[in-house]
Amino acid sequence: MKILVIHGPNLQLLGVREPEIYGRAGLAEINKSLLAVATALGCDLDFFQTNHEGDIVDRIALAYKDGVDGIIINPAAYTHTSIAIRDALKAVNLPAVEVHLSNVSAREEFRNVSMTAASCVAVVAGFGPDSYELALRGLIKKLVS
Ligand code: DQA
Repeated sequence: MKILVIHGPNLQLLGVREPEIYGRAGLAEINKSLLAVATALGCDLDFFQTNHEGDIVDRIALAYKDGVDGIIINPAAYTHTSIAIRDALKAVNLPAVEVHLSNVSAREEFRNVSMTAASCVAVVAGFGPDSYELALRGLIKKLVS
Protein backbone atom coordinates (compact mmCIF):
# COMPACT_ATOMS: atom_id res chain seq x y z
CA MET A 1 0.00 0.00 0.00
CA LYS A 2 1.39 3.39 -1.06
CA ILE A 3 0.29 6.63 0.58
CA LEU A 4 1.39 10.13 -0.40
CA VAL A 5 1.72 12.74 2.36
CA ILE A 6 1.45 16.33 1.12
CA HIS A 7 2.44 19.28 3.29
CA GLY A 8 1.43 22.73 2.07
CA PRO A 9 2.90 26.20 2.51
CA ASN A 10 4.93 27.24 5.55
CA LEU A 11 4.87 23.75 7.06
CA GLN A 12 8.62 23.52 6.43
CA LEU A 13 8.81 26.10 9.25
CA LEU A 14 7.14 23.88 11.85
CA GLY A 15 9.05 24.02 15.10
CA VAL A 16 9.83 27.70 14.54
CA ARG A 17 6.45 28.90 13.34
CA GLU A 18 3.99 29.99 16.07
CA PRO A 19 4.92 27.10 18.39
CA GLU A 20 2.07 27.99 20.77
CA ILE A 21 -0.32 26.97 17.95
CA TYR A 22 1.62 24.38 15.96
CA GLY A 23 3.93 22.92 18.61
CA ARG A 24 7.71 22.49 18.71
CA ALA A 25 8.12 19.44 16.46
CA GLY A 26 9.73 20.14 13.09
CA LEU A 27 8.49 18.65 9.82
CA ALA A 28 11.37 16.15 9.60
CA GLU A 29 10.51 14.87 13.07
CA ILE A 30 6.80 14.58 12.21
CA ASN A 31 7.62 12.71 8.98
CA LYS A 32 9.99 10.37 10.83
CA SER A 33 7.37 9.41 13.44
CA LEU A 34 4.75 8.92 10.75
CA LEU A 35 7.10 6.74 8.73
CA ALA A 36 7.73 4.54 11.78
CA VAL A 37 3.98 4.01 12.22
CA ALA A 38 3.51 3.35 8.49
CA THR A 39 6.34 0.83 8.41
CA ALA A 40 4.85 -1.00 11.41
CA LEU A 41 1.54 -1.12 9.53
CA GLY A 42 3.20 -2.38 6.33
CA CYS A 43 2.58 0.74 4.31
CA ASP A 44 4.90 2.85 2.09
CA LEU A 45 4.91 6.63 2.47
CA ASP A 46 6.09 9.30 0.10
CA PHE A 47 6.46 12.86 1.45
CA PHE A 48 6.07 16.10 -0.47
CA GLN A 49 6.25 19.67 0.85
CA THR A 50 5.84 22.79 -1.24
CA ASN A 51 4.85 26.40 -0.83
CA HIS A 52 3.29 26.52 -4.31
CA GLU A 53 -0.32 25.71 -5.12
CA GLY A 54 0.30 24.46 -8.68
CA ASP A 55 2.98 22.07 -7.44
CA ILE A 56 0.40 20.46 -5.16
CA VAL A 57 -1.99 20.12 -8.11
CA ASP A 58 0.79 18.53 -10.21
CA ARG A 59 1.80 16.16 -7.40
CA ILE A 60 -1.79 14.95 -6.95
CA ALA A 61 -2.03 14.12 -10.69
CA LEU A 62 1.33 12.34 -10.51
CA ALA A 63 0.11 10.29 -7.54
CA TYR A 64 -2.71 8.98 -9.71
CA LYS A 65 -0.28 8.11 -12.51
CA ASP A 66 2.06 6.38 -10.04
CA GLY A 67 -0.69 4.17 -8.63
CA VAL A 68 -0.73 5.71 -5.16
CA ASP A 69 -3.54 4.22 -3.04
CA GLY A 70 -4.40 7.24 -0.92
CA ILE A 71 -3.38 10.75 0.07
CA ILE A 72 -2.90 12.52 3.38
CA ILE A 73 -2.89 16.25 2.80
CA ASN A 74 -2.37 19.29 4.98
CA PRO A 75 -3.07 22.01 2.42
CA ALA A 76 -2.22 24.62 5.11
CA ALA A 77 -3.42 28.09 4.03
CA TYR A 78 -4.57 26.71 0.66
CA THR A 79 -7.25 24.81 2.62
CA HIS A 80 -9.19 28.04 2.83
CA THR A 81 -8.72 29.26 -0.74
CA SER A 82 -7.82 26.56 -3.24
CA ILE A 83 -10.45 25.40 -5.67
CA ALA A 84 -7.58 24.08 -7.82
CA ILE A 85 -6.50 21.62 -5.10
CA ARG A 86 -10.12 20.68 -4.39
CA ASP A 87 -10.62 19.96 -8.11
CA ALA A 88 -7.37 17.99 -8.39
CA LEU A 89 -8.36 15.73 -5.47
CA LYS A 90 -11.80 15.25 -6.98
CA ALA A 91 -10.32 14.57 -10.42
CA VAL A 92 -8.04 11.71 -9.35
CA ASN A 93 -10.73 10.29 -7.05
CA LEU A 94 -8.16 8.80 -4.64
CA PRO A 95 -9.23 8.57 -0.99
CA ALA A 96 -7.69 11.59 0.73
CA VAL A 97 -7.69 12.70 4.35
CA GLU A 98 -7.29 16.38 5.18
CA VAL A 99 -5.09 17.05 8.20
CA HIS A 100 -4.54 20.08 10.40
CA LEU A 101 -2.28 20.36 13.40
CA SER A 102 -4.48 23.04 14.93
CA ASN A 103 -8.23 23.00 15.48
CA VAL A 104 -9.07 25.27 12.57
CA SER A 105 -12.71 25.50 13.69
CA ALA A 106 -11.68 27.21 16.93
CA ARG A 107 -9.50 29.88 15.28
CA GLU A 108 -10.18 32.88 13.02
CA GLU A 109 -13.42 32.74 11.06
CA PHE A 110 -11.67 32.41 7.68
CA ARG A 111 -10.12 29.14 8.90
CA ASN A 112 -13.59 27.68 9.51
CA VAL A 113 -14.01 27.30 5.76
CA SER A 114 -12.29 24.47 3.90
CA MET A 115 -12.36 24.48 0.12
CA THR A 116 -10.60 21.13 0.03
CA ALA A 117 -12.45 19.04 2.65
CA ALA A 118 -15.33 18.27 0.27
CA SER A 119 -12.90 16.31 -1.91
CA CYS A 120 -11.64 14.26 1.06
CA VAL A 121 -13.09 11.21 2.80
CA ALA A 122 -12.30 12.65 6.26
CA VAL A 123 -10.72 15.53 8.15
CA VAL A 124 -8.53 15.26 11.26
CA ALA A 125 -7.70 18.49 13.08
CA GLY A 126 -6.50 19.72 16.43
CA PHE A 127 -4.29 16.86 17.64
CA GLY A 128 -0.97 18.46 16.73
CA PRO A 129 1.41 16.02 14.98
CA ASP A 130 -0.86 13.15 16.10
CA SER A 131 -3.40 14.38 13.53
CA TYR A 132 -1.17 12.84 10.87
CA GLU A 133 -0.97 9.47 12.65
CA LEU A 134 -4.72 9.37 13.21
CA ALA A 135 -5.28 10.22 9.55
CA LEU A 136 -2.90 7.46 8.48
CA ARG A 137 -4.60 4.84 10.64
CA GLY A 138 -8.04 5.93 9.43
CA LEU A 139 -7.01 5.97 5.79
CA ILE A 140 -5.45 2.50 5.97
CA LYS A 141 -8.64 1.15 7.57
CA LYS A 142 -10.69 2.64 4.75
CA LEU A 143 -8.34 1.23 2.12
CA VAL A 144 -8.48 -2.33 3.45
CA SER A 145 -12.23 -2.37 4.18
C1 DQA B 1 -2.96 24.45 9.29
C2 DQA B 1 -4.10 25.42 9.56
C3 DQA B 1 -4.20 26.48 8.46
O1 DQA B 1 -5.25 27.38 8.73
C4 DQA B 1 -2.90 27.25 8.39
O2 DQA B 1 -2.95 28.19 7.32
C5 DQA B 1 -1.70 26.39 8.29
C6 DQA B 1 -1.63 25.17 9.10
C7 DQA B 1 -2.78 23.44 10.44
O3 DQA B 1 -2.12 22.43 10.22
O4 DQA B 1 -3.27 23.66 11.56
O5 DQA B 1 -0.73 26.71 7.62
O6 DQA B 1 -3.26 23.71 8.12
